[in-house]
Amino acid sequence: MILPGRVRERAEELAGDLPAYVYDLAALDAHAADVRRALADVEVYYAVKANPDPALLRTLAPHVDGFEVSSGGEAAHVREVLPGARLAFGGPGKTDAELAVPVHRLHVESPGELRRLIAAGRPADVLLRVNLDVPVDGASLAMGGGATPFGMDPGGIAECLASLRGQGHVRPRGFHAHLASGLHAPELLRLAGAVVEFAREHGTHGEHRGHGAREVNVGGGMAVPYRRPDERFDWDAYGKGLAALRAPGETLRVEPGRALTAYCGWYLTRVLDVKRVHGEVFAVVTGGTHHLRTPAAKGHDQPFAVLPTGNGRGADDEPVTVVGQLCTPKDVFARRVVTTVRPGDVVAFGMAGAYAWTISHHDFLMHPRPGFHYLT
Ligand SMILES: Cc1ncc(COP(=O)(O)O)c(C=O)c1O
Repeated sequence: MILPGRVRERAEELAGDLPAYVYDLAALDAHAADVRRALADVEVYYAVKANPDPALLRTLAPHVDGFEVSSGGEAAHVREVLPGARLAFGGPGKTDAELAVPVHRLHVESPGELRRLIAAGRPADVLLRVNLDVPVDGASLAMGGGATPFGMDPGGIAECLASLRGQGHVRPRGFHAHLASGLHAPELLRLAGAVVEFAREHGTHGEHRGHGAREVNVGGGMAVPYRRPDERFDWDAYGKGLAALRAPGETLRVEPGRALTAYCGWYLTRVLDVKRVHGEVFAVVTGGTHHLRTPAAKGHDQPFAVLPTGNGRGADDEPVTVVGQLCTPKDVFARRVVTTVRPGDVVAFGMAGAYAWTISHHDFLMHPRPGFHYLT
């Protein structure tokens, strides 16, 4: 993949001090501004789970309407970094203490969770998370479209609507859904259409009319194709589609994670060894999937660029498997990718800004942690 000039310069400076993460905050700022422009008609909340790094949150803050958090820890973290930010709190297993966290919107995941919330007696503004039985073909991760622990089927929603009657402190504001991740704009728009239709049916019509259910959060899940690093989710088409879907008086909200921050992150490593074993070439780099678990978690090749800063015997324009320092065959960044690489070269893994450092098992084997650097 192509290494932007600024990242290359920083990689050359850091060559003796790797592994390290480099976050290109200027690139994130420009990308988030583009997304904001494309989605002018809807609210955008950033899904903090993708990357809660404070510098990224501060960079995103001017471009988003709020932040989606999935634990009391994430809520406290965002409060500390951005005290005035609006929070939406989702997630399938909230403790009583988490249900008590004051937030703009609480995403209710089950009738039992709602009963606990009502019994606690505190005011809360809620969206009911619906899991519709709609096809999610082509998704890299499915959180809905069938039996999963996320959200409720229409029966669960009906139970919630019944529980909400006869009390006033837990206020239903609408519906939430996050049915799948890794979908392109047309598929995501199809899902959004199904969710909005359900919300209109159950929130603003018939016996539930007047519940104030005019808000629909259709989730995140915008595709990030790791095999095609230059391709971007079609935010313009998505924004136009959502604008066409929204009826006057309705609030539509999205909560992307990966597609906002994946591209601004780089994990830089240095080649320790190039070896041939039973005919296969391995490049062993400093660090490993305990810092960047994404390729192991998703089973893909992490896209990378090689900076020829090394020398000695290596591989020339041939298939190379790039591995880390861990004593496990799962510590693989990329398999049999044709490249030229020598000991001492810098390997820069791209698309490492989302579900990367924070989803990784940092302490396994007790190697040093990477440095963190920010390009502004
Ligand atoms: C409820 C919810 N919202 C938003 C997201 C963000 O998804 P993505 O990072 O694919 O955009 C997730 C991811 O798992 C999620 O579970």
